[in-house]
Parts: sequence; C-alpha cells; structure tokens
Amino acid sequence: MINESVIEQAIDELFAKLEFTSRPEGLYDPLRYMIGIGGKRIRPRLCLTTYGLYRDEFADGVLDAAAALEIFHSFTLIHDDIMDKASLRRGVPTVWKKWDSNTAILSGDVMSIDSYRRLAQVAPNALPAALKLFSDTAAQVCEGQQFDMEFEALPKVSMEDYTEMIGLKTACLIACAAKMGAIVAGAPQNDCELLYRYGYSLGIAFQIADDYLDTFGDSRTFGKEIGGDILNGKKTWLLTKAMEKDETAMLGAISMPVGTPGLNAARIAKVTELYRELGVDEDAKYEILHYHGKAMESAAAIGLSRVKTELLARYADKLVGRTR
Ligand code: IPE
Ligand code: IPE
Ligand code: MG
Ligand code: MG
Ligand code: MG
Repeated sequence: MINESVIEQAIDELFAKLEFTSRPEGLYDPLRYMIGIGGKRIRPRLCLTTYGLYRDEFADGVLDAAAALEIFHSFTLIHDDIMDKASLRRGVPTVWKKWDSNTAILSGDVMSIDSYRRLAQVAPNALPAALKLFSDTAAQVCEGQQFDMEFEALPKVSMEDYTEMIGLKTACLIACAAKMGAIVAGAPQNDCELLYRYGYSLGIAFQIADDYLDTFGDSRTFGKEIGGDILNGKKTWLLTKAMEKDETAMLGAISMPVGTPGLNAARIAKVTELYRELGVDEDAKYEILHYHGKAMESAAAIGLSRVKTELLARYADKLVGRTR
C-alpha cells in the first residue's frame, strides 16, 4: 500500500517537473499557466490512491496516467471558462480573459492531445483498457458539457436530467481517475468496477458541492466568482431543488434582467435569498452526504483491509468537505 504522504510528495514532484514544448509561446504559455497555478489535483491524487491500494511503489506509467488526468481536466476548464463566460479561475484570470478565446481554444486542444501522449506511457498490458476508459470518459465530458449548455435555455430540468448531466460532465472523470489507478495496478476487474462507482458517487457529490459554492462560497478561497451560475441561468442542484419547492418564485427570480453590475447583483441577491428561504442550501449539504455514503458503500463492497478502506474514506471526506 502507498500512504497519503508518499502520494502528496509524488504529486508535488510530478507537477513541479512536468515539461511542455515551449514554441510557439502563444500556444504553450497558457498551458503552463494553467498547470502552474495548480488546483486541488483531486483526479491525479485519486488515481495514485487507488493504484497504491494494490502496489507498493509507483511504476508502469501510473504517474503519466495521473498527469494525463490533470492535464485533460485543465483543458476542459479552459474551454468551460469560455462557455461560461468566467473571468476568474483558481484565483487568477481565466485563459480566455488573460489572452483571448482563440488562444484558449487552441491551447485547450493541444492540452487534450498532450494528455493522450502521456497516457500512452502506461505499461502495454494495461494500455488498451486505459485508453478505452480515457476516450469513453473524454466523450462523456463533452456530452455533459453540451447538456449543461442546452439546459441554460430551458426553464427547468428534472432532478433526473440534472443528475445525468453532472454525471457526464463531472462524475465520469473522477470515476475514471479512480478506475485508472486500479487498471494500471492490475487490480481484479470487480475491484475496478467498484472503484469506478466509488469515484462516480463522489463526483456527483463534488459537483453538487461546486454548485453550492458557486452561490454560497467565498470567492477568495473558491478561486472563482460567486454567482456566475445564477447569471448564466445554469440548471444547478440548488435551482433544480428550489424549482421543486416554489417554481413560481424561482421563475420570477431567474428571469430578472442582467447586463450591468447593478442588475447582476440584484439577480444574484434575489436568487440567493430565495435559496435560503426555501432551505435548499441545507438540502444540498444532505444530498452531498447521501452521495458520500453511496461512495463508501461501493468502497466497502470491495472487501479491502480496514487500513485501505480508511484511506478511501479519508479521501472521500476531504472531497466532500471542500470549501474551494
Ligand atoms: C472544477 O474542478 C470543475 C468541476 C468539475 C466542478 P475542480 O474543482 O477540481 O478544479 P481545480 O482543478 O481544483 O481548479
Ligand atoms: C464544469 O462545471 C465541469 C467541467 C467538465 C469543466 P462548472 O462549469 O460548474 O465548473 P466550474 O464551476 O466552472 O469550475
Ligand atoms: Mg460549465
Ligand atoms: Mg464553469
Ligand atoms: Mg461550477
């Protein structure tokens, strides 16, 4: 087994020494910027954690797979920030804001390719399964992102549709990270599937927490602007739940005009006030715990030793206890 401090050290070293091509600078600087400013790196950490359940040292290209997951994720964020018109990410200006949208599109593209190049370093016996998982996941993220955008134009979506959408855009990649480590380690098929489910439930919890923080978080720690989802008409967990409770009031609030700082602030204030009145902020916390519980059921079903199950429990606790 590989413990948390060894994993942390490996993550730090991995990202400190990642090398990227340098010319043209306009293509690779945004990539270096995005990876350099860091993030929570939950996906590579999860990949190394599940790998370490079966092995005692990092080998067989698992570090490349971990880097691939983070680079792919960062690429999706660069494109997501264009789509969501977001100007702040990880506490600094987004790539399209700092450079421009065309630069962000192309740098994102090259990051996606870079992630595959790194993944290809996985040991030959695990590579076909790793590539299939990664490619299926990458397509699912795009599908989820498309639903996310299409939902903006709808007056409301069902909780079922919402959950499917976040399953695709967010949970699949976290599930992929959990399964990837196990695949590279050569874990039994059944363990790989259960770890996928563990990651998937955690991913759902993670996106609900992200939706919660987009309204109720602190911009300085969250690293993103508060209220962006409300301005974009995003069908978040909070809105979907609030619609179930008082559709008329919510429809009125989310159709308030936007476009100037004053109007934007008024819509954010009104929607936030209604969320509090309807209690969906507290509901979200219960829902996050519900998915955390589901994740731990999958983890327990693997039948690992107590120490190993506790490692997965601590990872899950950290993930759902997020404030950033
Ligand atoms: C942000 O992911 C996008 C979501 C899936 C919610 P993270 O919250 O993992 O972002 P970073 O990598 O830590 O910045
Ligand atoms: C994005 O969801 C998930 C991705 C696949 C990129 P969000 O749009 O909520 O992510 P943030 O809040 O901008 O990080
Ligand atoms: Mg988005
Ligand atoms: Mg976004
Ligand atoms: Mg968000």
